[in-house]
Amino acid sequence: MRFKPFNKCCSIKIMISKPLSGIICAFLLTAILPPCNANAQSDPPKLISNNGRHAFLVDGKPFLLLATQANNSTNYPAALKNVWPAVEKIHANTLQIPVAWQQIEPVEGQFDFSYVDLLIKEAREHDVRLVLLWFATWKNNGPGYSPAWVKLDNKRFPRVVKKDGDTLDSLSPHFRTTLEADKKAFVALIQHLKKVDKKHTVIMVQVENEVGTYGSARDFSRTAEEVFRSSVPEKLVKALNKKPGNWREVFGNDADEFFHAWHIAVYCNEIAEAGKAVYPLPMNVNVALRDPFDPSKPGAYASGGPTDNVIDLWKIAAPSIVMISPDLYMREYDKAMKIFDYYSRPDNALFVAEIGNDQPYARYFFSVLGKHGIGFSPFGLDYSDYANYPLGVKEINEEAFQPFAENYQLLRPMADVWAKLSFENKVWGVSEPDGDNHTQKLDLGLWDATITYGRPMFWIDPPAGNTPPSGGIIIAELSPNEYLVTGYRARVEFSASTELKNKKYMIERVEEGHYENGKWVFERVWNGDQTDWGLNFTSRPHYLKVRMATYKTN
Ligand code: DGJ
Repeated sequence: MRFKPFNKCCSIKIMISKPLSGIICAFLLTAILPPCNANAQSDPPKLISNNGRHAFLVDGKPFLLLATQANNSTNYPAALKNVWPAVEKIHANTLQIPVAWQQIEPVEGQFDFSYVDLLIKEAREHDVRLVLLWFATWKNNGPGYSPAWVKLDNKRFPRVVKKDGDTLDSLSPHFRTTLEADKKAFVALIQHLKKVDKKHTVIMVQVENEVGTYGSARDFSRTAEEVFRSSVPEKLVKALNKKPGNWREVFGNDADEFFHAWHIAVYCNEIAEAGKAVYPLPMNVNVALRDPFDPSKPGAYASGGPTDNVIDLWKIAAPSIVMISPDLYMREYDKAMKIFDYYSRPDNALFVAEIGNDQPYARYFFSVLGKHGIGFSPFGLDYSDYANYPLGVKEINEEAFQPFAENYQLLRPMADVWAKLSFENKVWGVSEPDGDNHTQKLDLGLWDATITYGRPMFWIDPPAGNTPPSGGIIIAELSPNEYLVTGYRARVEFSASTELKNKKYMIERVEEGHYENGKWVFERVWNGDQTDWGLNFTSRPHYLKVRMATYKTN
């Protein structure tokens, strides 16, 4: 019988003095993070980046967005009662919810912020932060959420015209009238927030929703055609290192889509810029993704939106948009990983603005955190009696909340700690894959971690995977030999990396504890059965600090 206890030997050659690394770390952090003084409370939230990592600062401190997004038509006072119990149930610290142009400016020039005021008041009562979703010119391609005086006046606010002359129900980005009207309403909203929200309950505003056009790669109206025949802006040509020319000359077959993307991005940027000039809140956009392995044609997906092929273009066109946030409705593991790769970049913090609310999606939380992600947000988990199957779960019942609630329950007590570690230190995270592979390896530097799924806690039975796949692990480096580890339904085994080859090594200490107000509270030491077979994480929260060591035999 094979018998392989976990705490077998090997060893180490480098020992970095722990107290010293701690001091260096503390020094670096103090230099980068703004001081936490009494005034920090009044600073608007902001995203900061360093070393390719990001921190979303709220009240001057790194904040992990454990968010949830309410269903589409919950943006009315009477509907909020269906939202708060759901927010509480999933242990979210942030609610994403729409504010519609049609509700704040039903008559041109007359603004009504009563819903916004009530929303902020109730969010405070529930101790929840808000991300407001500005549903205006584009809400998934169409102007449905714009006021009637906009969406019924195609002359003043023209729609996209297809190549064959037919008109689509998607507003064109080429008309100042539309941009100015949207911008005016948006700025009024931001001015209002500045006035009423001194406590920064609203921490971000999403500009539009899943921008882009279905049914055509771009607008082919006469106005658009003229612009299309003109030169590509110098800023874009230079940044992409292209030769100058018109859109077709510079971008060939991609010209129609890139042209549309540029003009939508510039449009969104102008709105965000105008809002920020009044009150500098972070402003993001979300994206209706295209299939990363089989993208099809623009127009079959939302052409002009910040899909993976035009992220660079969007970054150049829209510097006032703080990040592009993916909306993931692809259940497959490989696709999810690809999307997280695309949208976690030194210039783009990964915030999954929407993710399907069915069980298979919940495990991706761990991979997002492993990508130094700043937040996660299942879509449509509320009591408004709507389920968006097949994107999400078939029925929103009490069971539907559980996979997401357990994730936030795990992270909520240490959300600030994790957000800070993720900004300052190395972190890793894995989600259980689909299919037959139930083993993942992580290179942690001096040490490796092997994560396996679906094993009894005692013994070496090969991993069979969980049914359905539901495991996930996150690890943060505390010092070169010490790691914080937590997760669900997985076994974690530490071993020496090749750097430590031929050294004797062992677990020095595994402490179980938890965080209270940012401080580690020791509970017990794991040893014997609890460490011999690896560190087994179950469906209950366990937080471990694992210290690895080498030792000499002579
Ligand atoms: C993505 C959109 O951004 C959401 O507002 C919603 O319509 C979902 N699709 C589908 O439920």
